Amino acid sequence: MSRSPSDTASQRGFIVWFTGMSGAGKSTLSMAVRERLLSTHSVEVLDGDEVRTFLSRGLGFTRPDREENIRRIGYVARVLARHRVAVLSAAISPYRESRDEVRRLASEAGIPFIEVYARASLEALIERDVKGLYKKALAGEIPHFTGISDPYEPPGSPEVMVRTDSETVETGVERILSALRERGLIT
Ligand code: ADX
Repeated sequence: MSRSPSDTASQRGFIVWFTGMSGAGKSTLSMAVRERLLSTHSVEVLDGDEVRTFLSRGLGFTRPDREENIRRIGYVARVLARHRVAVLSAAISPYRESRDEVRRLASEAGIPFIEVYARASLEALIERDVKGLYKKALAGEIPHFTGISDPYEPPGSPEVMVRTDSETVETGVERILSALRERGLIT
């Protein structure tokens, strides 16, 4: 059976790189986007918590350790995307330099890279505190906690920004899918 151009486009690998503080909704958004891509793509979600259990086991939260974590995720993401996988990375990735490095390496490999900023105010994150980590961090029990005792550098010009403290998951997902559509990565 011959393939139409839209089939070819639908099989191109790419990286959607979610960034944002803990609890800002990166996992939720990535899982929701995954659902929408499954019918046309092989999809892989590289989630911060899971990556740290396997690929980055033993790494902590100092700047060098976070940079190493992001370097590893970026590498795996490129390998997968090269094989036409739609890769969704969901790690805090707090340093602009690290994210830009992943973007640069993806670009050099000819892999489309879409940065998605899951943005929520610190007040909302503390209020929500799904994992109870902000409470502990505020009590000084977690050193280097992003947004409390460690920096988060927001992206300067992400392809997509979702205000997860005021927008619905569906709105965010639609915006991400539009960005992919605009780039001809999905139909
Ligand atoms: S990253 O900075 O290296 O990108 P990553 O996304 O892998 O971070 O891990 C973040 C997750 O680890 C958080 O969602 C939280 O559950 C947990 N965590 C444990 N300690 C910290 C910390 N000091 N700062 C941020 N997250 C932490």
